[in-house]
Amino acid sequence: MQASVNRETFEQVMVPNYSPLPIIPVKGKGSRVWDQSGKEYVDFAGGIAVNALGHCHPQLITALQQQAENLWHLSNVWTNEPALRLAKQLCDKTFAERVYFANSGAEANEAAFKLARKFAYDHSGETKHEIISCLNSFHGRTLFTVSVGGQPKYKEGFEPAPKGIQHIEFNNCQALSEAISDKTCAVVIEPIQGESGIIPATDDFLQTARSLCDSHNALLIFDEIQTGVGRTGKLYAYQNYGVTPDILTTAKALGGGFPIGAMLCLRTVAQSFGIGSHGSTYGGNPLACTVASTVLDLIDTPELLNAVTQKHEIFSQHLERLNKRHPIFHEFRGQGLLIGCELKEEFHGKARQLLQIAQEEGVMVLIAGLNVIRLTPSLIISDQDIEDGMSRLTRAVKRFQDENK
Ligand SMILES: Cc1ncc(COP(=O)(O)O)c(C=O)c1O
Repeated sequence: MQASVNRETFEQVMVPNYSPLPIIPVKGKGSRVWDQSGKEYVDFAGGIAVNALGHCHPQLITALQQQAENLWHLSNVWTNEPALRLAKQLCDKTFAERVYFANSGAEANEAAFKLARKFAYDHSGETKHEIISCLNSFHGRTLFTVSVGGQPKYKEGFEPAPKGIQHIEFNNCQALSEAISDKTCAVVIEPIQGESGIIPATDDFLQTARSLCDSHNALLIFDEIQTGVGRTGKLYAYQNYGVTPDILTTAKALGGGFPIGAMLCLRTVAQSFGIGSHGSTYGGNPLACTVASTVLDLIDTPELLNAVTQKHEIFSQHLERLNKRHPIFHEFRGQGLLIGCELKEEFHGKARQLLQIAQEEGVMVLIAGLNVIRLTPSLIISDQDIEDGMSRLTRAVKRFQDENK
């Protein structure tokens, strides 16, 4: 018999590094979720840009079940068909020529940063080890990724941290050109900064980064863990900008809810990860790769990707209308279904309060920092679900406004 558990159990048995909301969701279907008490929610959170095909998509269930009946796990002592098929798909659909599989975004980035250092070490020696990253960026929670990430709060208390990392202001071409040197092995950029408030890179910044990397013989790494797999209306956001990186990391939506991460790169760069140089027991697991292959098949179609752009318009119209009635937002940002709604200055610091009220009204949203409500729904959310979720969000915003009078 299963033990009965509730939200109080969290404090009794879990490490307190999270502070989950008071409800426990138990079932999801499409863009609807139900909690233990049977209350229903419209899901505009999508597992933080993970559930790109909603909850329990029938074709993902079938793919997972079929693979589960054949082969779960081997380790990398043997390769497997689902991993090879997925790597081929990723190479066919992007600039990449080689793929390394991991289990999360942080691990994909860890591989990318290690590979950039190793590539520079192999070709130019150990002084070329510096990594340039952006202030407020987020790249994961391992010690290397919090160090490359531009939010010191995630590193505090965990030092000594890896050295040789510089942070520059995001979208500041001048700062990048002053920071880069022949000691730089890589420049790391999120095409849209996610965790820090949905802030898109400018064309100029990405183009400048590309040409500075070329002239200093440094690698350009795009962290597309949040922006990848259709989220912005292209399979990867770099395809919107027309600037191609040397290494790209992808996770989150790649597995549609099944844990997987991947690092994509050029063949010449990949050579620096020679046999035994890096690895992971679970990386390239057949279950994860089968699900991810099906996710890519379903998402990478012109119809689905165009629909993401159309749904962005529908969300924008709803949000503008909401803001006319209850003007609490200063601006809306983002591309496709990665949308940030920044609160007006008078409400700064209160994004979490609004998230909580929204949940009470039956719609799941996210925050990005203290001042931004973030929406990362399923890429195939229906117009009816958008409509219902927005009317619940409108009720929540009205309550939020009343409570902050
Ligand atoms: C841009 C970016 N990079 C890396 C990560 C870390 O991914 P994970 O939590 O799967 O390790 C995230 C997660 O939010 C992210 O948004």
